[in-house]
Amino acid sequence: MRKRRLGCQGLEVSAMGLGCMGMTFAYGHQDDAASISVLRRAVELGINFWDTAEMYGPFSNEQLLGRLLKEVPRQRLVIATKFAWRFGPHGEQIGLDSSPAQVRRSIDGSLKRLGTDYIDLYYQHRLDPSVPIEETVGALSELVRQGKVRYIGLSEVGPGIVRRAHAVHPLSAVQSEYSLWERGVEEKLFPVLRELNIGFVAYSPMGRGFLAGKIRSPDDLEACDWRRKNPRFLAENLSHNFRLVSIVNEIACAHEATPAQVALAWILRRGSDVVPIPGTKHLRFLEENVQAVGLKLSDDVWASLDRSLSCFKVAGERYQEDALRFIDTSD
Ligand SMILES: NC(=O)c1ccc[n+]([C@@H]2O[C@H](COP(=O)([O-])OP(=O)(O)OC[C@H]3O[C@@H](n4cnc5c(N)ncnc54)[C@H](OP(=O)(O)O)[C@@H]3O)[C@@H](O)[C@H]2O)c1
Repeated sequence: MRKRRLGCQGLEVSAMGLGCMGMTFAYGHQDDAASISVLRRAVELGINFWDTAEMYGPFSNEQLLGRLLKEVPRQRLVIATKFAWRFGPHGEQIGLDSSPAQVRRSIDGSLKRLGTDYIDLYYQHRLDPSVPIEETVGALSELVRQGKVRYIGLSEVGPGIVRRAHAVHPLSAVQSEYSLWERGVEEKLFPVLRELNIGFVAYSPMGRGFLAGKIRSPDDLEACDWRRKNPRFLAENLSHNFRLVSIVNEIACAHEATPAQVALAWILRRGSDVVPIPGTKHLRFLEENVQAVGLKLSDDVWASLDRSLSCFKVAGERYQEDALRFIDTSD
């Protein structure tokens, strides 16, 4: 597996990571045995950059990864996790909290659940408007000094917050949604990340699975699947959005690839400072997706995809309103 560097502090990760969220959260039923097989195979394939968060479950995702950390030499893995919320006694979210005291509580919880004494990349999951970012990053930088965290990052923040945070302690990565159907980061965020030499981690790189082409109707999702409420997956938008899958599929078919591979290869082509973290709990999808790293399409093919994309407008916001308000869009 090829490696990529994120940021100027020396963080090196597999060119493609593994998103672990869906293994215990949001996307239908949980199957720990299947997920453990995926994690073991990821180690064999050299996919060492694993993405989790305390809120995935909450807590059960880190616990699941903790089971694997018992059997894999720690230095073979690059574990990224995230904090942002305070939770009630039953795991319910009771509000954002990025105060230094909460940052210190959160890291200790994550370390315990993962069964490790350090986190490779520790992100703030969502900006807490009630705490100046300088205070939060100050607390993160203290964790780096203590050896509990190696590198730090932010998720879903705009360029202004990135600059302020980076001035306190160098950020190694910013993580945001990025895929063929979500390119909001390109115009303002990417130039600032490149100016400051901060890496970019693309979450939901297959459009939460949509771009892989197997979700044609909300009924293809389990009743408990969070995506049923996501505007882009509502029946009236899904059928319009399927046009995008057809465009990608046409290219995939012509090059003996799958739409998932084309969607991931498109991200990998954005630059050596960009790393996608596709999620799956299926071994066969992991094996399929990893091949995107070696998928080479000609410049002409990519240009024709770009032309088709420029005529396509996605239907539906990427989150429901109650979740959109947590996304920082400030310049
Ligand atoms: N920072 C944030 O706020 C944030 C938000 C969302 C996600 N994330 C991170 O990003 C990671 C990836 O994002 P994501 O899971 O939302 O979306 P994604 O990677 O775009 O898509 C995951 C979905 O695609 C399906 N899939 C994967 N490979 C496939 C293939 N080859 N063919 C057909 N279907 C396939 C998976 O199915 P199965 O699971 O059934 O295999 C899953 O339902 C997450 O796991 C999480 O770690 C971060």
